[in-house]
Amino acid sequence: MPNKSLLILGDIMCGIVGYIGPRKASPILLKCLKRLEYRGYDSAGMAVLNSSLDVIKDSGKIDEVDTKHDFSKLGGKIGIAHTRWATHGEPNMVNAHPHTACNGDLALVHNGIIENYSTLRDLLESEGHTFQTDTDTEVLAHLIEKFYTGNFMGAVSKALIKVRGTYGIAVIHRNHEEIIVARNGSPLIIGVKDDETFTASDASAILEHTKKMIYLEDKEIASIKAGKVTVKNLFDKKIDKEVEEIGWDLDQIEKGGFKHFMLKEIFEQPESLRNVMRGRIGKTIKLSVNGTLSDCRRIIIVACGTSWHSALIGRYLIESIAEIPTEVDYASEFRYREPLVGKNDLVVVISQSGETADTLAALKEAKKRGAKTMGIINVVGSTIAREADTGIYIHAGPEIGVASTKAYTNQLVALMLLALDLRQSNGKTLDSNIISEIRGLPEKVDHVLKQNKKIKAIADAVADHSNFLYLGRGINYPTALEGALKLKEISYIHAEGYPAAEMKHGPIALIDENMPIVFIANKGKGYDKIISNMEEVKARRGKIIAIATEGDMDIKRLADWVIRVPETMDEVSPVVNIIPLQLLAYYIADRKGLDVDKPRNLAKSVTVE
Ligand code: M6R
Repeated sequence: MPNKSLLILGDIMCGIVGYIGPRKASPILLKCLKRLEYRGYDSAGMAVLNSSLDVIKDSGKIDEVDTKHDFSKLGGKIGIAHTRWATHGEPNMVNAHPHTACNGDLALVHNGIIENYSTLRDLLESEGHTFQTDTDTEVLAHLIEKFYTGNFMGAVSKALIKVRGTYGIAVIHRNHEEIIVARNGSPLIIGVKDDETFTASDASAILEHTKKMIYLEDKEIASIKAGKVTVKNLFDKKIDKEVEEIGWDLDQIEKGGFKHFMLKEIFEQPESLRNVMRGRIGKTIKLSVNGTLSDCRRIIIVACGTSWHSALIGRYLIESIAEIPTEVDYASEFRYREPLVGKNDLVVVISQSGETADTLAALKEAKKRGAKTMGIINVVGSTIAREADTGIYIHAGPEIGVASTKAYTNQLVALMLLALDLRQSNGKTLDSNIISEIRGLPEKVDHVLKQNKKIKAIADAVADHSNFLYLGRGINYPTALEGALKLKEISYIHAEGYPAAEMKHGPIALIDENMPIVFIANKGKGYDKIISNMEEVKARRGKIIAIATEGDMDIKRLADWVIRVPETMDEVSPVVNIIPLQLLAYYIADRKGLDVDKPRNLAKSVTVE
């Protein structure tokens, strides 16, 4: 596990940079911004203070925006810039950052999600503010404008006190030679060097200029002037901060100190899970899906690969929680059979990229046949997100490793919320236990991640085998499929996932002392039956790796290796159980010296048939 100061550097959504000093800001900002490209983004923009406050922004890659609009024409020595990964509102020119308010006196860039933006927007509109974008961020610009009476830092503090959610922000104002930055749950650092000061959401952006950094903590705000930094809390109390020296190189920092993006993304899951729940889960569920779901009689979920495994778990959740009949199909099969779907059906398509060709074609087929459609998508504004009648964004942030990890667990939580929402739409009461179990998932996942050293040791012990079997039952049968897929795609080891009860109908013939078998064996429905399956394997000298509940001592008798996970309700257990399997696959592939982030023959987004 990497150094903690690096772990807090990455934000899984967007990128921020800022500069104030004696040099022209735009070329410096442009270079710093390009250092953040590796994180994934869909739009870019810059605001520079000169005699006027000028903004250039658009959707597309930084170079495309630069070629089209020419950032260098922005004069001035104070500026902020941003790469956006859309969460609220499509990636287009209007929604790109920086954002301004009504009178154009200030410009602001933001990472994170403002949960109460819609209430704040209604309030500000009723007071006469006019909004231009679909973003959550724009409310912050208008709030600062509302509170501004000459004290810039004071106005930003007052605005931040009103918002709920996460932010890393940088703001400039026409009347002030300073940048105001603040953070809450979204990282922001300040780089100091003689008479120049830099700011960024990620140290890699400014490392070529300085290694001397001030790390802002949550709810801290800073005024950055050329060569001078003042940090306060939101209530104007000054805070003394240490300047720390970074000893890491650029590559280490881009990956947050992790060896690969996949490992970084596995470790980001507590945070990405918080993002998919943010603002959506309380005593009731608020999903903001368009149109009524209460008249849907049947649900068909279609997807490919890992997203198809989420779909299988989604079926279990929707049938048990919402009590609506649900079917699952591979998108590639659905599109080519003559599916009997129509106007009483809801077809849900799941896709991380939102661009998978088979999934898009299946969505079009469902629409042609008159079904209502919904997308469960990570990439905002992607083709599937735009084509579906309604949707749920999973807010996992950019996923760079080809093997899907954090998108998968966020898909599962989105499906839990959908199942609860469907139940609620049909006038049924919600089980508060499930709600609190979902809310507790980030902590439980964090707890499992802390066992990474133990999982690595198991990986070292089994990495030389050439076949693996993964077995699970019920809602964790798809966990077995997903665990096996992770292993095969990055380690090139043959692995099969099976429902545990099916073992005796064939795969049992494979079992001998050379076959590691991974059991998802945590306490819950079907536990006793899983134990019987383990006995059968043990009798044939198979090597058992068990994912088991903390405190379950029986399992030690049967398993060669035990990985403990916290106790959970069955409904949420797949999120906790997949974490050790992601780590196991990762450590095996890494031990074999393979290119974990870019496995052979695979693409992140499969846009061909
Ligand atoms: O972007 P999508 O979710 O539509 O992608 C579907 C599959 O191609 C994808 O899940 C693939 O199986 C991953 N490499 C799994 O890790």
